[in-house]
Amino acid sequence: MPAYAIIGGQWGDEGKGKVVDLLSEKADIVARFNGGNNAGHTVINNMGNFKFHLIPVGILRPNCIALIGNGVVVNPDAFAAELATLHESDVNTSNLIISEKAHLIMPYHIKLDELEERRRSEIGEAIGTTGMGIGPVYMDKTSRIGLRMIDLLDKNTLFHKLEVVLKQKNDVISKLYGGDPVDLDYSYERCLVWAEELASYIKPIEPVLYDALSSGKKIMLEGAQGAMLDLDHGTYPYVTSSSPSVGGACTGLGISPRDITGVAGVYKAYTTRVGSGALPTELHDEIGEFIREKAGEYGTTTGRPRRCGWFDGVAARYSSMINGFTSAILTRLDVLDGISPIRICTSYKYNGKQLTEFPADALILENCEPVYEDMPGWDKPTASVTSLDDLPQEALNYIERLSEIIGCPIDMISTGPGREEAIIVKPIF
Ligand code: GDP
Ligand code: IMO
Ligand code: MG
Repeated sequence: MPAYAIIGGQWGDEGKGKVVDLLSEKADIVARFNGGNNAGHTVINNMGNFKFHLIPVGILRPNCIALIGNGVVVNPDAFAAELATLHESDVNTSNLIISEKAHLIMPYHIKLDELEERRRSEIGEAIGTTGMGIGPVYMDKTSRIGLRMIDLLDKNTLFHKLEVVLKQKNDVISKLYGGDPVDLDYSYERCLVWAEELASYIKPIEPVLYDALSSGKKIMLEGAQGAMLDLDHGTYPYVTSSSPSVGGACTGLGISPRDITGVAGVYKAYTTRVGSGALPTELHDEIGEFIREKAGEYGTTTGRPRRCGWFDGVAARYSSMINGFTSAILTRLDVLDGISPIRICTSYKYNGKQLTEFPADALILENCEPVYEDMPGWDKPTASVTSLDDLPQEALNYIERLSEIIGCPIDMISTGPGREEAIIVKPIF
């Protein structure tokens, strides 16, 4: 059995961490392919309560290789901190591999992220990034001036590479933003420390993946962020700078689309978003507040309050279409316990016309009004339920309607944050 992808179907934080933790029981490899420590994947199981940012969740499975692909951007300090937390919980991290081609997040990327956000916020255009240097590091990757893991390992050429790139960065930092330049010697010293800390993990990943695929091993692809934050397909410019959609798994790991036999889209039973950008179904009332407080909708990485709203069926159908989801996984159903009616956005109204396709223009989306279909809520709790038979009929009806809208079967329903709090409708991995 080849590779199986778990992809965020909305604007991130759908519960991918919980899902990968549960479904990776039989995985031989769990691989991250995009993003960096802007991600925050929460896992709660009998080993503890974890917040993963960079390391694949599969590290908690003793015989599973946790692989960080070339499409991921690595902040070595964040990596070391995460490793230390795992060691405190006695997690074995010897099965961890980082692609030699993964790009390095340098302190100047973080600085540039902050300076650019400040500049944009002065003109009311901030993206609301996580401030982890994600945009700037991917910019350097496409500008072909990035530093990669493999560069850390060659001390003879590293200083020169750093000198060249810092000249450019410091011109931008000081001349464009009026910021303080970054010191070359300090940066080089940091790189030497990182090289020491990371050397044993940095490897070519292609043979590992190829051997696994040819010998029928099972690979789970752990997406970060969500399709609506995709650089190409998301709500541009209010997106991240990588490809959280399934296509990103191929380029971010060096595997063929032919090896991916299943793609599961993870959806919350409602919608959340952190940072700027339109969210047509956003609730600015007591229901939105109720959901945020009940569900603890605060960012796993930044602690920022998440914007909450009803399920956006237009966005959900669109993300399913661009990813070719073979299954959908619904999380946080329990959060809707006690709310009635429950609204589902099935189309938008724009300029007096009905829109059923997700618009590409951020300004159009900003001015879209959601058109809702109301469904009765349920008065029996769904929290911690593990069998479909124990769900109230109204909840089953809601799930059925979401499945129709998304356009694929809902094969797993999560009813709580813990590993075991889920209904497996059909085994998918
Ligand atoms: P990710 O980034 O997609 O991995 O999601 P996050 O970890 O950032 O946010 C999801 C949050 O929902 C975490 O706090 C999880 O513990 C929690 N969670 C996941 N599934 C469920 C569920 O079915 N019910 C409830 N109540 N919480 C859930
Ligand atoms: P997980 O993997 C939710 C959002 C930021 C911001 C935009 C750009 O936990 O689902 P960036 O720092 O990437 O340049 O920020 O993307 N964002 C996320 N939102 N979950 C995430 O990851 C996110 N990663 C980035 O809030 O709006
Ligand atoms: Mg998250």
